[in-house]
Amino acid sequence: MAIDVAAVRRSLPILDRELDGHRLVYLDSAASSLTPEPVLDAMDRYYRWSRSNVNRGVYPLAEEATDLYEGARTVLAGFLDADPTGVVFTKNATEACNLLAYGYVRAHLGPDDVLLSTVMEHHANLVPFTQAAAAVGAEVRHVPITPDGLLDLDAAAELLADGRVTFAAFVHVSNVLGTINDVPRLTRMVRDANDRAVVHVDGAQAAPHLPVSFRDLGIDSYAITGHKMLGPTGIGALVARPELLERMEPFLTGGDMIRDVTLTGATWNDVPHKFEAGTPMIAEAAGLAAAVGLLEGYGMAAVRAHERELTAQLLDALGTVAGVTVHGPKDVDLRGGAVSFALDGIHPHDVGAMLGSRGVCVRVGHHCTKPLMRCLDVAATTRASSYVYNDVDDLEPLVDGLEAAAAFFAR
Ligand SMILES: Cc1ncc(COP(=O)(O)O)c(C=O)c1O
Repeated sequence: MAIDVAAVRRSLPILDRELDGHRLVYLDSAASSLTPEPVLDAMDRYYRWSRSNVNRGVYPLAEEATDLYEGARTVLAGFLDADPTGVVFTKNATEACNLLAYGYVRAHLGPDDVLLSTVMEHHANLVPFTQAAAAVGAEVRHVPITPDGLLDLDAAAELLADGRVTFAAFVHVSNVLGTINDVPRLTRMVRDANDRAVVHVDGAQAAPHLPVSFRDLGIDSYAITGHKMLGPTGIGALVARPELLERMEPFLTGGDMIRDVTLTGATWNDVPHKFEAGTPMIAEAAGLAAAVGLLEGYGMAAVRAHERELTAQLLDALGTVAGVTVHGPKDVDLRGGAVSFALDGIHPHDVGAMLGSRGVCVRVGHHCTKPLMRCLDVAATTRASSYVYNDVDDLEPLVDGLEAAAAFFAR
């Protein structure tokens, strides 16, 4: 069934706001999505009615809070078709990547190993691994992109040819180019070259927008972040094969993640709790579970179909503005709803300021992808990104704003 955008919008009072007399047009969901009321209600209910700590108390309220928190793990695992014991809650995708970089790469890789990355990574899926590689003396190789913004798989085959890649980390959907990478294909290439290789995928821009089956992707770990998928800020997850988590060293130590402690040492709790030191994000887990419930209610195939259609309309609309160059694939089957572009001769910050003054919220800058900006030979881009609460009515203010920017700054 198609997404009932009007109904989604009714759950988002923020969309009734006016900014300087302009209707709020939110086209920045790749940075952070809006938060529907059922998500706020779930967090509010925890604080009002079930407030206590988890995994400690034996009284009913504490058991209720624990059920809420552990229930959220099961809900997220179901949404991503993964094993709940492989779901580690983190504060965001960045922390999920760091957990893997510290717990696996720094603990198990050495100077004979090679890490495979790509030039289109968000810093969150790049810096933790380049730092880890430097710390253990491993080499890092980067898959380049083709002129239309796809990963160059021929080049990847060459980078893999000597069989030395033992760890690969790449993005599922690019936050700048919108490219949907063929994760199963690149994963097979990595494994065919070296069957011991561990494959990690950054799903921060994919899990909110596409049907995702962790099992079918065939990978070892996947990072997600709640605030881009209708959930609250402050929660994300590393979703991994439990066997990988078993091999990993703890990242943060302290309470809850232990089995036993002596004055001089400690042993670790079972996975995934081994990686969740201290009091976790209980309200946020409840909120994330509610967000997943909403997405499952819409159906992820319907979410994808809605965004595919809207992205096609957005690309057409941008095509009507003189001087616009879109970065990334033009084929909507190969891309998600984050669309980056340049407006000839005008700095993205000026474009963003003009759009902002008209109530249109887009992201401008390097989008935490400085190496990709260098490949594109730009310092920054303007990015419009859509979600389940956007429709074609949001495109006209964008186009009008771009034309206004072109007229104003060309003077
Ligand atoms: C592709 C990608 N990966 C990772 C992240 C990091 O997410 P977070 O800031 O929630 O850790 C982002 C955020 O923009 C992203 O777009």
